[in-house]
Amino acid sequence: MTTQSRRVEHQQTDKGTVPVYTTAVVEQPWTSYSRTDHATWATLFKRQQEILLRRACREFLDNQGKFGMAPDAIPKFGDLNRVLKKVTGWELIGVEGLLPELTFFDHLANRRFPVTWWIRKPEQIDYITEPDLFHDLFGHVPLLLNPVFADYMQAYGKGGVKAHGIGAEALVNLTRLYWYTVEFGLIKQDDGLRIYGSGIVSSKGESIYCLESPSPNRIGFDMPRIMRTRYRIDTYQKTYFVIDSFEQLMDATRPDFTPIYAALSQQDSIPAGAVLPTDKVYNRGTGAGWAQDGDV
Ligand SMILES: [Fe+2]
Repeated sequence: MTTQSRRVEHQQTDKGTVPVYTTAVVEQPWTSYSRTDHATWATLFKRQQEILLRRACREFLDNQGKFGMAPDAIPKFGDLNRVLKKVTGWELIGVEGLLPELTFFDHLANRRFPVTWWIRKPEQIDYITEPDLFHDLFGHVPLLLNPVFADYMQAYGKGGVKAHGIGAEALVNLTRLYWYTVEFGLIKQDDGLRIYGSGIVSSKGESIYCLESPSPNRIGFDMPRIMRTRYRIDTYQKTYFVIDSFEQLMDATRPDFTPIYAALSQQDSIPAGAVLPTDKVYNRGTGAGWAQDGDV
């Protein structure tokens, strides 16, 4: 443990935004949050709560309540950990910014979830390129209280450590799975499609867009298909994948991925906005407003 908590942010260069990585695990310097920091949390929290009321999946909303998350102040990791450890054995750890892949996977494989300790500045309220406290805590932490999803996150971490040993292509495949589930996943519930992805719940615009816009595709979950699908990092997604349940995610992650990676290496990647004849289509997007290039 270090005692000094730095704020490690992406750097602006003449080549654009460059990610900066850090591996330190730090105590959450809770007393160092300014009134502005707490006010930013309050603004974002209240705004998203209202938007997510009939849009987020019920597990997300219920679990937020179980943690006692509230708008009045940035939560203390220690308070959340007391609840989390008891229910699923996960633990939040404070980090200064983006972690290198293998470090991140290793934490997940050991049921430790890294949370960036610092929150965005008021001028970044609607958009920030890297994960901050609001994204990590508000977005990711509620579902760690769900036993099946908690197991999925650990399985993903173990898969990441393994993929890291297999090679760059395997990592690309696995990263797409994380992107289209943990970050940008939708789930079919009794009352319709609902959000569980953290990248969506922490975004005002995308929380509405992903469910209500006619532009994006909404397609049934298909793991090998997702592992071939490119995605967007600079715009809303062109395609969202819909799971039936968290059990479906966990079941898909149980087999050894090694033969899947080998089979995928013989196939081309799929553009972010493509719909295949084999897809279970909930909604075929109109494609209105899509950028023509820039899939990663
Ligand atoms: Fe995230």
